[in-house]
Amino acid sequence: MQPAQRTHAFGESTIREMTRLAIQHNAINLSQGFPDFDPPAEIMDAAVAAIRSGANQYAITWGVPALRNKLAEHYRSTLGWDVDPDVHVTVVCGVTEGIAAAFTAVLEPGDEIIVLEPAHENFYPTAIMTGAKPVAVPLQAPAYRFDPERVEAAITPRTRAFLLNTPHNPTGRVFDEGEVQAVIDLVLKHNLILITDEIYDRILYDGRVHKSPGGYEAVRDRTITIGGFGKTFAVTGWRLGHIIAPASVAQAVRKIHDYMTICAPTPMQHAAAAALNLPNSYYEQMTLDYHRRRDLMLGVLEEVGFQASLPEGAYYTMADYTGLDIPQAQWDSSRFARWLTTDVGVAAVPGTSFYTLDGYGVDSVRFAFPKKLETLRMAGERLAGMKK
Ligand SMILES: Cc1ncc(COP(=O)(O)O)c(C=O)c1O
Repeated sequence: MQPAQRTHAFGESTIREMTRLAIQHNAINLSQGFPDFDPPAEIMDAAVAAIRSGANQYAITWGVPALRNKLAEHYRSTLGWDVDPDVHVTVVCGVTEGIAAAFTAVLEPGDEIIVLEPAHENFYPTAIMTGAKPVAVPLQAPAYRFDPERVEAAITPRTRAFLLNTPHNPTGRVFDEGEVQAVIDLVLKHNLILITDEIYDRILYDGRVHKSPGGYEAVRDRTITIGGFGKTFAVTGWRLGHIIAPASVAQAVRKIHDYMTICAPTPMQHAAAAALNLPNSYYEQMTLDYHRRRDLMLGVLEEVGFQASLPEGAYYTMADYTGLDIPQAQWDSSRFARWLTTDVGVAAVPGTSFYTLDGYGVDSVRFAFPKKLETLRMAGERLAGMKK
């Protein structure tokens, strides 16, 4: 038996591999992006209550009404159009499924989709699995700014869509208004579909605000907005996300979601509806906590000698290690990250795994810091030991 040709075009996820390596070597896992602290008690209680009260069977394919109603209310204000929970909203099994459903809904085999690199590892294989061709355009370290000329040079007659992830994993960039406007100009000029991944929309630093690109009037009818719950509410294992799509493609999205997964987990959807009822103080406290984690992480890395990017949003930093005074600083990031995990006891992700483009990410690793402060301090002690 032979695996299908399409599976040869991508490897296994390095991020998930690093987690397995971290477990095997008892390393502090700063590789995969998930919290080591609990979600808010109210929403854990809501999940248990949903299970106890019988919400254990398939939900309506596009999501339980209470959750879709809350989402529609939220997006009516952030997107500025009349989002209808019965038409435009689909609850899916994580942003991962959201991306797959959106790609499958709008991309024809052979269509090209522009993806900025470094990028979350899933975009490339997902595009391949849908028969589309991902076209990578680099963001240049250390500023990682959007460069419209570079993108325009990559656009061909087959280009059909543009994927924008903001706040951005792994760089922590929150693309500013000028950059988002430049994306929109290109999308309009070349008649593209805009697909956004806004999973980190609530994790922002230094007073930044997230503005959904789909809220710009000129692209409202050509934007598919994808968001999640896993990061905002520390429930990455619940596998919940959502898609807000204009009527022209919403039904296609729903069909694809139906035949891929039937529905997202029912009790978790009830708990997610409860999460969207949390007061503003939840987000204020979360923002404070993430500032503490970011500042601790960045302080530790600076102290040890890494050159780490200061995140504007999300919970990652790309750290250049070539200035460290150790022989391993000369190694490429794949070897360096594995050594860091097995010998230093702190797992990180090689920079190269965020690129399909050659020669990028070779001298940096990504640290994820959605962790208790004590975890980050312990990681700091281990990293400091590296110099001895
Ligand atoms: C940019 C981005 N998109 C999507 C995902 C996956 O989201 P989910 O767990 O909701 O499938 C991640 C997870 O790290 C991510 O960083």
